[in-house]
Amino acid sequence: MSTTYRIAPSILSADFARLGEEVRAVIAAGADWIHFDVMDNHYVPNLTFGPMVLQALKPLALTPAGRPVPLDVHMMVQPVDALAQAFAQAGADLISFHPDASPHTHRSVQAIRAAGCQAGLVFNPATPLDVLDWLIDDIDLILVMSVNPGFGGQSFIDSALRKVEEARRRIEASGRDIRLEVDGGIKPANIRRVADAGADTFVAGSAIFGQPDYAAVIGEMRRALEAGRG
Ligand code: DX5
Ligand code: ZN
Repeated sequence: MSTTYRIAPSILSADFARLGEEVRAVIAAGADWIHFDVMDNHYVPNLTFGPMVLQALKPLALTPAGRPVPLDVHMMVQPVDALAQAFAQAGADLISFHPDASPHTHRSVQAIRAAGCQAGLVFNPATPLDVLDWLIDDIDLILVMSVNPGFGGQSFIDSALRKVEEARRRIEASGRDIRLEVDGGIKPANIRRVADAGADTFVAGSAIFGQPDYAAVIGEMRRALEAGRG
């Protein structure tokens, strides 16, 4: 099976004083998606941005050919439902949330899809994948956290690789086209290992925005991914 790898820079590590320019620059450098790390200082001990910021950035999120770049919203918030609807209205393409942040996970997934967005579930380092027993047929994305949510620039937690392998097995068994995204501590040096475990979409914040040349680091990531193709 040939895998289309996607790189999703997280604007959490971008220059917040120049977010529009940063989104344009990272797309010109080859980004496939733009990852929005939404934090409410309740579910996680940090506070970032709301739907208005996504709405403001959406017109800028275009490829050089003028095609829209998918806006991948990772909601580290509780409660989930009202804010998910607001991000859908603001123009999000994918909305993922942490199952433990919603008392009615199945209904939250249904509401995201009813709003016209793809729906994803996010699993923290110690969160098992069990909820997928009842939701794998209803989602479009599985996001495995390889750091504890709340901050960029953390180190990759190796046990996430075992969870990625299990998630890949569950996706294969479902027969559905579900993207498997990993978020946290992704670098050119470890991205191949994460792909070998079964991931096809990679969030990277500090590894990209911490560098002067975004195209160079995204190119390095793509070469590492292509070098290991079976
Ligand atoms: C944590 C955030 C980070 C971010 C990626 O809540 O979700 O994982 O996306 O940050 P880096 O790539 O710097 O680990
Ligand atoms: Zn994220």
